[in-house]
Amino acid sequence: MCGIVGYIGSKDIKKILLEGLKELEYRGYDSAGIAILQNNELKIYKAVGKLENLINKTKDLKTEGFGIGIGHTRWATHGKPTELNAHPHMGEYSYVVHNGIIENFKEIKKELNDVRFISQTDTEVIVHLFEKYLQDLNDPLKAFKATIDRLQGAYAILLITKADPSKIFFAKKGSPLIVGRDGEEIYFASSDAPLIGHAKEVHYLDDGEWGYAQLGEVVVYHGDRAIDLDFKPLTLNKELAQKGGYRFFMEKEIYEQSDVITETMMGRIKDEEIEFEELDQEFLHGIHSIKICACGTSYHAGLSGSYLIEKLARIPVMCEIASEFRYKEPILQKETLFVVISQSGETADTLEALKMAKDAGLKTLAICNVDNSSIVRLADRTILTRAGIEKGVASTKAFTTQLMVLWMLALYLAQQKGIDPKKISRELEAMRKTPQALKVDPDLHERIRRLSKRYLHGHGFFFIGRDIFYPLALEGALKLKEISYLHAEGYPAGEMKHGPIALADPELFTIALMPKNLLYEKTKSNVEELSARDSTICAISPVAFELADDFIKVQNADHYMLEYYEMAVALQILAMEIAIRLGNDVDMPRNLAKSVTVE
Ligand code: F6R
Repeated sequence: MCGIVGYIGSKDIKKILLEGLKELEYRGYDSAGIAILQNNELKIYKAVGKLENLINKTKDLKTEGFGIGIGHTRWATHGKPTELNAHPHMGEYSYVVHNGIIENFKEIKKELNDVRFISQTDTEVIVHLFEKYLQDLNDPLKAFKATIDRLQGAYAILLITKADPSKIFFAKKGSPLIVGRDGEEIYFASSDAPLIGHAKEVHYLDDGEWGYAQLGEVVVYHGDRAIDLDFKPLTLNKELAQKGGYRFFMEKEIYEQSDVITETMMGRIKDEEIEFEELDQEFLHGIHSIKICACGTSYHAGLSGSYLIEKLARIPVMCEIASEFRYKEPILQKETLFVVISQSGETADTLEALKMAKDAGLKTLAICNVDNSSIVRLADRTILTRAGIEKGVASTKAFTTQLMVLWMLALYLAQQKGIDPKKISRELEAMRKTPQALKVDPDLHERIRRLSKRYLHGHGFFFIGRDIFYPLALEGALKLKEISYLHAEGYPAGEMKHGPIALADPELFTIALMPKNLLYEKTKSNVEELSARDSTICAISPVAFELADDFIKVQNADHYMLEYYEMAVALQILAMEIAIRLGNDVDMPRNLAKSVTVE
């Protein structure tokens, strides 16, 4: 996830911008840049990789005295992490930084046909559009308003221009942006952390707000109406600020899912169809089956995806654990599309599996969160999940965004096969409601927190579900194992009677995933069998289940995928609350690393 900072004042601008970017490092980035406007002279510096590279590049730059400046850390979504793609992006006399995704950038690019674009980003259109409107309207504020009126998608934008060298123009929709002040001095940032120690008070901009700032003045509009600013004192705890006020990064990432999934979908759901600029008919020509390969949580997303692709696109799919796949002498056929899924893009087993598929001449597709990672560089094509950096070792938003890509991919393939548009339309309707299903309901969180106290002991957990809820059961069990260190297994509900039911007694906890829209009665019978043998049952379902000892009610019950997403959040919270009660380090559980680069 990108981060932005801005400053107006007489302190050392370079220092303030670079220190601000340093505080945003926790958001993840692959390149960074700053632009400074001082004494009517514009200076710009960009560097790929660590912030140290940018600091080195600017070491001889002197910026004492009044000036304005903007800075950016970039997490690639459109175009590779290169200097040309790094922000700020420049026009002839203006510079812009942007966090978010401009959905209609291609359309705008076409319109600006006399402009020579130098980056592959969606952001560059903003600065050129602004300069075009400035030529027509001869008024920077009007030109800025005309620019943001044209943008579809999500954005937090800071723009500086020689045409009005004392101001920073800003706008927010969907992506975070905060303006802070200390006397005359003005600061901007994507989160509180860079502002601590500088700004005394802050105004959290709302969606739709835009305006300009200059020394001693911030003017904010909503539409055409100027609004009163609501400045509040700033928290003083940096760590808390990075965690957005949550207790753990994992908790923050659970709560973030509703917003992040919107980024995953952005520009890919068009009216009545799915579009992937990363794919085309030629690439998919001759593909008759799909093999998915991944590890851990990514494997669970893959397995869920295999159900979706078979259900919706009617293409045979096999999903395999990468560490197993490598040594089983797999049969690889050219008409199989080989899909790898990885949050980090560096997992050794997944990378090796990908190499094997490439060596066998298969077409390969990566679903990944980190652009320019080893897996992305090796795969023929990549669909980025756009989840932003995930700091908690236990994967949460990486999982739900991977699954969204797979769901969209299933529909994309269904479209290519000419499957009934009505069916596709029903799926799209549900897909658009996913952010709602992922939104954490505080009452639900509190309910899970309270009931978690009953699940701290006992001799084990079975998470059970059928169909696509079986991989979700696997994921629920993995989350619990990782951070609570309690024994948990995910199992297909219908398989319990073939052995594991022998373990049933009151000290065996069954977490039953009981969706209303998929095999409810079948799952219910399996849970009844466990209840009859005295297992303690925690049912997660939209439908009240009279035999449950505990019941977590699902609210989004229009479609099985909405139930899936809401249950995924409930399982993540359950694991986290149990781990907290047991006094464990939720973000850094024992024996685990975030990226597994060894076999
Ligand atoms: C679980 C978890 C791991 C990873 C696995 C694969 O919470 O994070 O199971 O999913 O190590 O990692 P990536 O997705 O980076 O390939």
